[in-house]
Amino acid sequence: MNSTNQLPFLAIQEAEKGLLNLKKQGLSRAHKVAQSACDTTQMFNGQRYKTFCSNDYLGLANHPEVIQAAQEALSRYGVGSGASHLISGHQEPHEKLAHRLADFQRAHIPHVQTLNFSSGYMANLGVITAICSLSNSTQASPKELTSIYSARLNHASIVDGIRLASKESTVKLTIFEVEELQALENALQSDTSKHKLIVCDGVFSMDGNLSPVDRLLDLAVRYDSLLLIDDAHGFGVLGDQGHGILEHMKLCSERLLYIGTLGKAAGVMGAFVCAHQTLIDWVFQKSRPYIYTTASPPSLAMATLKSLDIIEGPEGQQKRAHLHELILYWQTHLQLQHWHALQSSTPIQPLVVGHTPLCVLIDQELQALGILIPAIRPPTVPKGSARLRVTLSAKHSLQDIQALIEVVMRLEAKFISS
Ligand SMILES: Cc1ncc(COP(=O)(O)O)c(C=O)c1O
Repeated sequence: MNSTNQLPFLAIQEAEKGLLNLKKQGLSRAHKVAQSACDTTQMFNGQRYKTFCSNDYLGLANHPEVIQAAQEALSRYGVGSGASHLISGHQEPHEKLAHRLADFQRAHIPHVQTLNFSSGYMANLGVITAICSLSNSTQASPKELTSIYSARLNHASIVDGIRLASKESTVKLTIFEVEELQALENALQSDTSKHKLIVCDGVFSMDGNLSPVDRLLDLAVRYDSLLLIDDAHGFGVLGDQGHGILEHMKLCSERLLYIGTLGKAAGVMGAFVCAHQTLIDWVFQKSRPYIYTTASPPSLAMATLKSLDIIEGPEGQQKRAHLHELILYWQTHLQLQHWHALQSSTPIQPLVVGHTPLCVLIDQELQALGILIPAIRPPTVPKGSARLRVTLSAKHSLQDIQALIEVVMRLEAKFISS
């Protein structure tokens, strides 16, 4: 070993400085170690907490039938898939899952087909890069420009997908505000590029509000664009059958690409994209985050198939009805003077506190009371809008919500008077 080499030593010094700087700004991140399954009460670091922080909106992450489906698949298929999808890792459960997920969006995307990814992060990287590479689909044709229109509050994985696409293809990026669609229309109107892609979260992950997918689709049709919706937080939760935001808004178009994730309401892990079969064929051929990674364990696909049965069936409907009662109760009974509870009809119910150190302090106080609600700070949310991201689950009871409202109102009074 060469201990005189300066490079790693300097790197460590720089990392130490950077870490200290993050700490000083209250932006340092740390793990909490969970010692029990994901639930509305959970052990962390030896202490039991009431949790309002998971994305397990329907309580399927620890559902006995989903666990049993995984256990049976483990006995049959083993633990790992052993290879990437295009070598030998694509097993029967992966194939079945893709077909079942396509069924969920069949009424909304004509000629629909599905491709599964190992995570939502990878799906956004893989789909955006592949779609942007359409502009140079044959080597004979010159590289053409793809115009991407991305909503300002889109998830980090969309941002990173666009960054990666910009390195590989010729991309012009325009950020738009969902509240100002006239500006988006003006930009589309004067856009002469052949390839256009509008990208938007279906439900904004830090605000909880629905995006205007219907109006975005109208613009996509009128200005010859594709529309990619990342419905990570709507899939399983929105629509009578839990199919997501396209079902909720009753939309149907060949211009749609629909990404859903399976680690939130479905309670397992992974993601998928649904689109017209030719677009999916292209993504399949070109998407490096799909091609160059080990296929996820087949037991996860079997567990997800069981989750999908629950989501679509009467149990899923009951869970969604209960969840919406809880959301309504929270929205109508929480009365705040200084903190701002965002208007949201989804299980994401943020309390904007503003100042980052104050938000961290409230997070700590809640923890001392045995309640876990994460403080979300910049850069995940815009500066000055640090918040407690309350998430509700169908597993919560009305009493859980009543108790939380009481605690939040008490804490607000305490922090404001001190
Ligand atoms: C809107 C959105 N898209 C994508 C992702 C990433 O999904 P995954 O956790 O499956 O990587 C998230 C995760 O929080 C998300 O909120």
